[in-house]
Amino acid sequence: MDVKVFCGAVVFAETEKKVVEYDRAYIVVKGGKIEGIYPVLPEEYADAFTVDYSDGVMIPAFSDLHVHAPQYPQRGIAMDELLYDWLHKYTFPLEERYADPFFAESVYEAFCNDLISRGTMNVAVYGTIHEEGTGKLIEKLESRGIRAFVGKINMDVDCPQGLCETVDGSLFATERFLEKYGKNRFARPILTPRFAPTCSRELLYGLGRLAKKYEVGMQTHLVESLWEAEEATRRFPDCSCDAEIYEKAGLLGYGPFIGAHFIFPSEDDIRILQKYDGFAVQCPDATTNVIAGIMRTGELLDRGIKLGLGSDVAAGQSLAVYTQAASAVRLSKIKSFYEKSSRAITFEESFYMATKGGGRLFGKTGSFEKGYSFDALVLKGVADGYQKLTPKQVVERFCYAGERENIRARFLRGEELKIQ
Ligand code: GUN
Ligand code: FE
Repeated sequence: MDVKVFCGAVVFAETEKKVVEYDRAYIVVKGGKIEGIYPVLPEEYADAFTVDYSDGVMIPAFSDLHVHAPQYPQRGIAMDELLYDWLHKYTFPLEERYADPFFAESVYEAFCNDLISRGTMNVAVYGTIHEEGTGKLIEKLESRGIRAFVGKINMDVDCPQGLCETVDGSLFATERFLEKYGKNRFARPILTPRFAPTCSRELLYGLGRLAKKYEVGMQTHLVESLWEAEEATRRFPDCSCDAEIYEKAGLLGYGPFIGAHFIFPSEDDIRILQKYDGFAVQCPDATTNVIAGIMRTGELLDRGIKLGLGSDVAAGQSLAVYTQAASAVRLSKIKSFYEKSSRAITFEESFYMATKGGGRLFGKTGSFEKGYSFDALVLKGVADGYQKLTPKQVVERFCYAGERENIRARFLRGEELKIQ
């Protein structure tokens, strides 16, 4: 089997409390998977093909658990609005343009290139309501080998005419999308009701039937703002919380469950998320830009909830998950300053969420332990000559002050992934 050895400084998070670092180590990769990591290269690999990154730091690639590919052209715009107006004035009009598959193709190409260039190799991503346009997105991700859950959005109430589906039309298109792409190797479909305020009961129950028939999971925006949480239970008065809406519709338990934001969960929301082994996604910049809420990250980590990070472009301004790792720490400090019951998180916890923690959604990615896919980034040029940095400090500085240019090489399943 194909054996490669990668040599250099190494940093990875094994748990949220344990970040492993080596000044110099050898990562042995067999058939794209990690065989072992050694301070001294074992004799049996002495003749193996070796790539030397002595002046670099190798880290696992990132996972982005919440992002909107069609909103890519809108990043950094209208950041002074709040969610409802931001959606209706800017985001929905842009998403209407994806009825044109040529527009979709062009934006999704740029989106994939930017995503990969910033070191993200696993992604849970929303398209639009458009079947053909969202097909372009899933095809591009699949052809680049990026592990993905890709959603054709469903929405049929309180949205502009151009984005408002009929229940039957939405379900037919979704079923065709599942049929067409359900056998993909890397980029697979996931049900994506946008959020409770834009979905009718009939639509959600119909999606519940598809979840069961195709054994497919679901992603949505969950208790993301006070307005959204109140609107959700006002529109579904038989449910005591946002998550129960999806549980009652039969959408949970057939695949991954991803709740973006999860800023204002009730105890019932938390119970339902845990019952279905769901992931909550913190999107620090997005929530400060257009939602104005901060996740109770420390508490959720302490309670064993699975957490990942999301860029949430275009509510978030950049696809760089590494800057979200820094922002998550920053926000938790602000929250703990103003709310004494809340605790700040450490950089180790945040780096874990950006890599192995979020990566659990996709399989064995995001760590350098034995058996994991070798999905790696090589960082260079982060330290300057003034002060010696440990490998872990290099990673921390990269997350706070790094540039995409600091990522000098990318590997996916042991193969170099070139940026286009
Ligand atoms: N809630 C419903 N749709 C959206 C969206 O596109 N972005 C964000 N951040 N929240 C949403
Ligand atoms: Fe979002």
